[in-house]
Amino acid sequence: MNSNVKFDREASAQEAERQAAFIERGKLLVSALSRELGRKPRACTVTFGCQMNAKDSEKIAGILRETGYELTQDEDADFVIYNTCTVRDNADQRVFGRLGRISHYKKKNPKMKIALCGCMMQEAQNVEKIRTSYRYVDLVFGTHNLYRFPEYLCGLLEEDHRIFEIWNSTDRIVETLPSERKYSYKSGVNIMFGCDNFCTYCIVPYVRGRERSREPADILREVERLAGEGVTEIMLLGQNVNSYGKDLAVPCTFAELLAEVARTPGIRRVRFMTPHPKDFSDELIETIRDYPNIARHVHLPLQSGNTGTLKRMNRHYTKEQYIRLAEKIRREIPDVSITADIIVGFPGETKEEAMDTVDVVRTLCLDNAYTFVYSKRQGTPAASMPDPVSEAEKKETFDLVLSAVQECARIRSEALTGRIMEGLVEEINGQNERYVTARLSNNMLVHVPGDASMIGQYYNIRLTECRGFYFFGEIVAA
Ligand code: SAH
Ligand code: SF4
Ligand code: F3S
Repeated sequence: MNSNVKFDREASAQEAERQAAFIERGKLLVSALSRELGRKPRACTVTFGCQMNAKDSEKIAGILRETGYELTQDEDADFVIYNTCTVRDNADQRVFGRLGRISHYKKKNPKMKIALCGCMMQEAQNVEKIRTSYRYVDLVFGTHNLYRFPEYLCGLLEEDHRIFEIWNSTDRIVETLPSERKYSYKSGVNIMFGCDNFCTYCIVPYVRGRERSREPADILREVERLAGEGVTEIMLLGQNVNSYGKDLAVPCTFAELLAEVARTPGIRRVRFMTPHPKDFSDELIETIRDYPNIARHVHLPLQSGNTGTLKRMNRHYTKEQYIRLAEKIRREIPDVSITADIIVGFPGETKEEAMDTVDVVRTLCLDNAYTFVYSKRQGTPAASMPDPVSEAEKKETFDLVLSAVQECARIRSEALTGRIMEGLVEEINGQNERYVTARLSNNMLVHVPGDASMIGQYYNIRLTECRGFYFFGEIVAA
């Protein structure tokens, strides 16, 4: 494992210039297409998976917008790209299902281009399936060469043949690609790419490659630029943010970076995803404690509460270490919420062992958790571990874990009822348009009466009514 990757900044700068030239060429090609169609061509990006993928899609959308496409949510468009995820099998299946459905748009509009990128494309069997059975897909690229998208786009518009380009790795980070932000008031910022942890169930290290950190100066420049554009909430993104900076020529800890971001004028909230419990430092706990604008929320993936399972998962912590860490975080940072990811049904985990997971959830009274059923990923060590536990038994265990999670989430939220907390209004409520939804620093959601003019603003909100893990509330005068 190479945890000391250096990337060549000069070569990266040259590559950025090359792609900028392709964007210029793309503008001419898209304007020729506009004349042919008699209207602006439309492009649609569809994202599966995590925040990292969402951020990548913003880069793709930025390039499409820059070259002259009009962005749309409608897949009946002139260019459609699916940015895929392969962390669990159902994510894969959804892509193939959807791809089948858009083929008839292309029959209607032969000029339509269909592209696929992202984590699923780093798996040879998926690429092969698309090459042979989905012949109407025009462009396939992976996670390592996303920065070449302007070049591929020009290729597609100039010549009528399929482009398939997948790389196994890269040591390069290309800065300064355009980006189209989905929200005006908040933004994700990549701090590192890849993962070196190799948890035995997980495909991410194989499809995202080795860890590479961005230079702190580049990250801070991006944060300052975003603040200048009116962004007030930043989410720092990495698969294992605790190991940020170890590969840099001048090492920098994640806690140091976090503090710098929190000090940036205009930034009212900083979040981060995802830390790994195995190296969550005291320095990081103290930094969160000392900066009130770092969100009172720690997402601390648990995966399992059973020490033996954790060992077989290659997680490098025990049940007791996780509990002690979470207790320390709660002790040092009042009002913090702790949420987790949990996997039920890891190969060979008995129901009795899984009860340790329920025990951790209840002992800590976790604020919430995403609970997943284990999904076998080809090529990972867990895929070849014996798995004698029946699906029916796994389902039973899943229900037990889920009900413990829901019970604890309710207890933790109910305890906050009546409090006044600051919320950032994010959107109109999907169910009732006379309400807006605000996010508290601890990541909980509260619905308050309001309208679109409030989006992106901060309000003091009284949490009047708890509904499980979210609230109804009212705005109180500042
Ligand atoms: N880097 C992050 C998140 C990675 S993927 C971390 O270390 O926590 C997000 C979540 O998906 C994981 O936390 C895990 O709970 C879940 N996951 C990953 N691989 C899985 C698999 N094969 N089956 C089921 N869930 C999985
Ligand atoms: Fe996957 Fe583990 Fe890396 Fe998270 S830390 S991305 S779960 S290998
Ligand atoms: Fe999925 Fe890739 Fe993220 S596999 S969870 S989109 S890193």
